[in-house]
Amino acid sequence: MTTQRPFAFQVLPLAGLPDDARHASRHLSDMRGYYADQASFEAMLADGDILLYEVYEIPRPEQEGELLHGLSILHAGKVGDEYFMTKGHFHQVLETAEVYYCLQGKGMMVMETPEGEWAAEELKPGRVLYVPPRWAHRSVNTASQDLITFYVYPAYAGHDYGTIETRGFHAQVIERDGAPLVIDNPRWQTLTRDARRQT
Ligand code: F6R
Ligand code: ZN
Repeated sequence: MTTQRPFAFQVLPLAGLPDDARHASRHLSDMRGYYADQASFEAMLADGDILLYEVYEIPRPEQEGELLHGLSILHAGKVGDEYFMTKGHFHQVLETAEVYYCLQGKGMMVMETPEGEWAAEELKPGRVLYVPPRWAHRSVNTASQDLITFYVYPAYAGHDYGTIETRGFHAQVIERDGAPLVIDNPRWQTLTRDARRQT
């Protein structure tokens, strides 16, 4: 049974998570279709199905009043010139926010609303990022060490991965001349226009 007693754990420095933390891992094969350079993706996958990111979440009842929280650990690397990134999602209950706190590494959070407004914010140790209700979010690791963030959001939020899986984010983060660059995702324009035509 989930405890109703207060509890605490240490994340800076990281000293282990509660024993009942749930662990999820995403490998390269889970990300088919997410990266722009499909030839590089397939070539990398042929070399091995490497681990891209992991999430440790403290289980709480998925109901109003509760908060889900945990650590997201995104490893470093690139597919072509595109940095390793999380799948990204809208919350199923769109009107729910999320807070991220960066513990280690360097990266970006790319975000956007269903209407197509978009934003990109830097993640670095000590920085807090507020993702308002309605904003899809994806973290991107732009450095050579793990990007570790602590996150917290309403436990009843749920996740919608499908929208992002098909159209991607408006903003794409690539390496150009050794530095991160945010560019327009060309696929987003077409797929969003087609989706709007159908509604
Ligand atoms: C929860 C949340 C994070 C992400 C994690 C992995 O709402 O935003 O815990 O789930 O960073 O990213 P996704 O879920 O997009 O694969
Ligand atoms: Zn989220």
